[in-house]
Amino acid sequence: MKPDFKREQTWWEGKADGEERDVADEAINRALRWRAIERCLKGVKTIAEVGAATGAFAIPLAKRGFTVTHIDFSAPAIALAKLKAKGLKNIQFVQANAADLHMFPNKAFDLVLNMDGAVSFCGKDANKSIKETCRICRKKLIITASNKAWLIPVWVATTFPKFKKIVPAVKSMIKDGFWHYDQHPHNKQIVPGYFGTLKAFLPSELAGLIKASGFNVQTCHGLGSLANLTGKDTVDFVKQNPRARETFLDLCEEFDKKIMPNGPGTKQRAGLIAIAKRKV
Ligand SMILES: C[S@@+](CC[C@H](N)C(=O)[O-])C[C@H]1O[C@@H](n2cnc3c(N)ncnc32)[C@H](O)[C@@H]1O
Repeated sequence: MKPDFKREQTWWEGKADGEERDVADEAINRALRWRAIERCLKGVKTIAEVGAATGAFAIPLAKRGFTVTHIDFSAPAIALAKLKAKGLKNIQFVQANAADLHMFPNKAFDLVLNMDGAVSFCGKDANKSIKETCRICRKKLIITASNKAWLIPVWVATTFPKFKKIVPAVKSMIKDGFWHYDQHPHNKQIVPGYFGTLKAFLPSELAGLIKASGFNVQTCHGLGSLANLTGKDTVDFVKQNPRARETFLDLCEEFDKKIMPNGPGTKQRAGLIAIAKRKV
């Protein structure tokens, strides 16, 4: 069940316009990722972001003076990012597939970010995307990916009431975190429209793949589980109150670290984060 990257690319291209639109707890997920990035910036000059879309992270980092390489396979996302980056000389845009970054040499960038899509949506090739991210990284990396602890309940809730049984797609998600549109006969009935392929992980699984590429994994845990568990009213309140937001983010970090490291992460956006440093 290989990914159909041509179709994946077309699917993502159709989503470029809505990329930075928030419907639920995306802002919490993003803010927690910013906190993680801030902690990695010491000693960093060059940054690559794989799957950088419209530049929500890449462009602010370039504005702060880092030399940034923005990588994505979606031409419309790159076009939107270029508009936002107008006048910046220290950002380059490269259209490429995360599973094949041969145009970059080994250890090309101090910090590599691969967040929210360009790992998990490679499906069976997710390990290739992780390997490539690690290969081009000289010092530190942050990877976020889909979290099994969240996708399993979502898969059950989407299918159980409809089919009145646990369908094979749920069993595949539990067994190996895998979804492919063509894998089981009725998968096409589960999601309206095209939903190609996905690979979700447990923290130990993601950390294992990164370790195998020569990195010490400093942390790998659910990202923003408290936002998921407390729900919409809390998240809406927090989003509207800057002081409450910082307190809530502190609490989210403590919850992810000490209470529920294997937790589900946020509802929206990749709810599993790994931060790693190349072994010297
Ligand atoms: C949800 S956006 C995430 C954007 C940004 N990294 C963030 O965290 O806000 C996912 C992006 O990954 C890109 N992407 C998905 N699979 C990819 C692949 N195999 N190669 C390159 N880009 C990919 C999509 O085109 C999309 O722009």
